Amino acid sequence: MAKDTMSKTFFVAFALCVVCSVLVSAAAVVLKPTQAANKLADKKKNILSAAGLYEDGAEIDALFEQIEARVVDLQSGQYADDIDPSTFDFVSAAKDNELGTAIDPGLDRAGIKRRSRYIPVYLVRKRGAVDKIVLPLYGKGLWSTLYGFLAIDRDDLSTIRSLVYYQHGETPGLGGEVDNPAWKAQWNGKQAFDAEGNIAIQVMRGAVDPSSPSAHSQVDGLSGATITARGVHDMLHYWLSEEGYGPYLKHLRSEGGIG
Ligand SMILES: Cc1cc2nc3c(=O)[nH]c(=O)nc-3n(C[C@H](O)[C@H](O)[C@H](O)COP(=O)(O)O)c2cc1C
Repeated sequence: MAKDTMSKTFFVAFALCVVCSVLVSAAAVVLKPTQAANKLADKKKNILSAAGLYEDGAEIDALFEQIEARVVDLQSGQYADDIDPSTFDFVSAAKDNELGTAIDPGLDRAGIKRRSRYIPVYLVRKRGAVDKIVLPLYGKGLWSTLYGFLAIDRDDLSTIRSLVYYQHGETPGLGGEVDNPAWKAQWNGKQAFDAEGNIAIQVMRGAVDPSSPSAHSQVDGLSGATITARGVHDMLHYWLSEEGYGPYLKHLRSEGGIG
């Protein structure tokens, strides 16, 4: 009897497919909790990094004890403490009919079309008092949406401490230079608002002129990546505006305290 028949070949190929798909599916199911835990640890690491608290090799959960997460209702600027910040996904919520809202195209400087009505913010404590606030933000670059965190001082709600991106698909060496430590270092100390409370922060086209009276609100552009740099500038202007964190920042200024 012939050993190499067409039906045997198909059977072996089919059996191999079934075994492989079972293995892949099982791996996906078994690894799902680990992936979720890694994703959460990575998010915490990025928030700590924005807050200037991240240390290589340190226990992330222990460091995160200095940070209190709270959900903000962007429209009223008040906290929405009935929403759990640890599980609330503002990116998915943006697509939801009830939790999300469409952005007027004339005001959509971040190019995101919709946003969640609620967003978690992170209050960074130093010796018990809130020292910095870490605000999530996102917006379009050239190839991708860039997701990051902006840290500002609690005192004046204007001094930027850092801008870090944890997810984007911009080109390494061009738009990907948003991750370059030298470029990131420039943000520390820049003023988001001017003395009248207008949004002043600018990502320049080219280098900042240190003698310019506006230099304290300006950051160098990204060479060969003007579109990504413009995206960073525009998303900051969107999220710091009345459409974004404006009402929250106003609430904090009027309260003078956090709570
Ligand atoms: C393969 C390739 C990848 C690019 N990636 C980016 C990018 O990530 N961000 C960006 O702003 N421009 C990128 N550019 C350049 C843009 O097309 C555009 O020329 C540039 O943003 C203009 O900036 P400049 O005026 O500083 O030269 C890329 C171009 C090429 C050919």
